Amino acid sequence: MSDRPLIAAAGPVAGRVATELRSWATLVAGDDDEPLEPAKVREIRAAEGLLIDTRLRIDEELLVRLPALRVVASAAVGYDNIDLAACAERAVLVSNGRGALDDAVADLALALVLMCRRQIPASLAWATSGAWVGGPAPFAHDVAGATLGIYGLGAIGLELAKRARACGMRLAYHNRRQRDDDAETRATYRSLTDLARCADVLVILTPLTNETRGRFSRELLACMQPTACLVNVARGPIVDLSALYDALVSGALAGAALDVTDPEPLPPAHPLYELPNVVIVPHIGSATFETRERMSLLAARNLAAFFRGAPLLTPVQ
Ligand code: GLV
Repeated sequence: MSDRPLIAAAGPVAGRVATELRSWATLVAGDDDEPLEPAKVREIRAAEGLLIDTRLRIDEELLVRLPALRVVASAAVGYDNIDLAACAERAVLVSNGRGALDDAVADLALALVLMCRRQIPASLAWATSGAWVGGPAPFAHDVAGATLGIYGLGAIGLELAKRARACGMRLAYHNRRQRDDDAETRATYRSLTDLARCADVLVILTPLTNETRGRFSRELLACMQPTACLVNVARGPIVDLSALYDALVSGALAGAALDVTDPEPLPPAHPLYELPNVVIVPHIGSATFETRERMSLLAARNLAAFFRGAPLLTPVQ
């Protein structure tokens, strides 16, 4: 019997991450995207540590089947897939990937802001459909001087704010509490309703919680200007998609860009795909080789810290 802890990874683990983990642990890694199906869970019953991302739900049902579990290291920054209370009940510690993906998500958010403001999807369709031979595409709107509203100004939001300032945008934000560095960020604090009213582009970056679920309701969307766009790079369930669809079709909202949807994947027949003023990308905020490796390494190092008796590097609770 080895005294090396058994670490189960919910997905494939390769390169430096695998090398680091294997240097002190026994690693059972998934070889596809759904590795923790019931048969596999039996195989990892003795797992003391889990390395996961957002796709695996850590709930009471799973915890019961993993009685040796002591720590869950998620590579992701969002942890709405983890029942923290159930983990706490069993003294299972949890860490997340905060800090490892700020640039990548902020880059994508900026790209989506620019796509919305410059109406790139409609212009692309204008060119590819042949409409261009009939005349120039309709004009879009300036980025410089437009107001970027950020709902959830944390580490990723600050990176987005930095990029948006470089583009000459004005900044406003809403958090549960006003930050104490507004002078430095040059972002104006607003209530969420006021943010919806004033933003030319509103980017959602807040975590999914009971409080934020469905927050972008029909009522809140109705506060937005008809020339405004909504960008969601946080979690799909924060936005009522059918209300969003109606707002986009009726002209109450000019456009939307979604990296996240509810459900995920959004079924191919979903009517949102048909709208020329919508960009949908498949939850790729952190999906670069470099960032994903950084996220997995951070998770592996959280596990390593735990098993050598040190505090977690990025604890969630
Ligand atoms: C991605 O969605 C994450 O939470 O890291």
